Amino acid sequence: MKAVADPGSSTAERYRDFAEVEAPGQSMVYGEWALGVAGDPRIIELIDELPLAKRQVNLVFAAIRAAGGPVVSYDELRQWLLAQWPTVRSIALTRSTQTNEAARCAVLLPLLAGLPQPLALLEVGASAGLCLFPDRYSYRYGDQEVHPTEGPSAIVLVPRVSGPVPVPHRMPSIAWRAGLDLNPLDVNNVDEMQWLEALVWPEHQERRRRLRAAVAIAQQDPPRIVRSDALVGLESLAAQAPADATLVIVHSAALAYFPQDDRTAFAALVPTLPGHWISNEGQGVTPGVGDRVVASGADPALFAVALDGHQVAFAGGHGQSLDWIG
Ligand SMILES: C[S@@+](CC[C@H](N)C(=O)[O-])C[C@H]1O[C@@H](n2cnc3c(N)ncnc32)[C@H](O)[C@@H]1O
Repeated sequence: MKAVADPGSSTAERYRDFAEVEAPGQSMVYGEWALGVAGDPRIIELIDELPLAKRQVNLVFAAIRAAGGPVVSYDELRQWLLAQWPTVRSIALTRSTQTNEAARCAVLLPLLAGLPQPLALLEVGASAGLCLFPDRYSYRYGDQEVHPTEGPSAIVLVPRVSGPVPVPHRMPSIAWRAGLDLNPLDVNNVDEMQWLEALVWPEHQERRRRLRAAVAIAQQDPPRIVRSDALVGLESLAAQAPADATLVIVHSAALAYFPQDDRTAFAALVPTLPGHWISNEGQGVTPGVGDRVVASGADPALFAVALDGHQVAFAGGHGQSLDWIG
């Protein structure tokens, strides 16, 4: 995941890189669009009007879709984009990439269930908070199923698994939950939920269905998400967790958006707080988690999953696979 734009590479290079590395196997539509943009000086000129952080492929393409951009060939899209650029531009300037994927809970669940219960779950970079409800979803790991205590959920998460995944026998008990985000999204805000849908890539129908179902679950009991930079707000939010629950600080696909110095400061801060730390981030993103990666030769697109700084698994970036390594 390349969340923080590399200031050293040009916009055309970044769009070509996306087409060659990130889109294959994920989105033919976005692969074709990204390649089209990379070879189109006029469109590059428009995108370069945006501040560097707003030129991200994911953000610009989601802004196109939020503005009503059709899922068509690049040549057709180009005509539409030239006419609609002011709208796309203003969406890109006001929104950010906050993709919230409930399926990442399938990666977190075995670690959460292995901690002393009950838990005080604190998610950094929570977006709309859909990963704050791991106890409200059903799971299938191989032939083993885990369900909420009140019965099977409308959402069943089925990651591909390998290795000795410690599949829990029962759901973790979550006594307290809260999130922290630079820009919390409200599950009851229609515009914000439409933006989350626009962030799902065109071919990912199942993810779109899951997003709607997870939002419906969260709407029954909207999560508390504090608006703050992680480095500013973490200590005081952690201090609000009940003392008789195990505090667990979780972050998933969030640290990549922090500047490098902030990642280092964050990884130094978390171990000074009580409780445990679960990190589910791109390889090399969480400082101190990575020794296994170098040794394993794992697919670089996989996330590294770590408990208290020690890597235990690799995972698909959207929670679609979980390879336990011990
Ligand atoms: C891609 S979303 C991931 C959401 C969720 N964790 C998940 O896995 O589905 C990343 C989130 O991190 C938030 N974020 C980025 N930098 C942050 C910071 N410095 N402090 C707090 N939140 C931050 C963004 O606003 C965004 O909502």
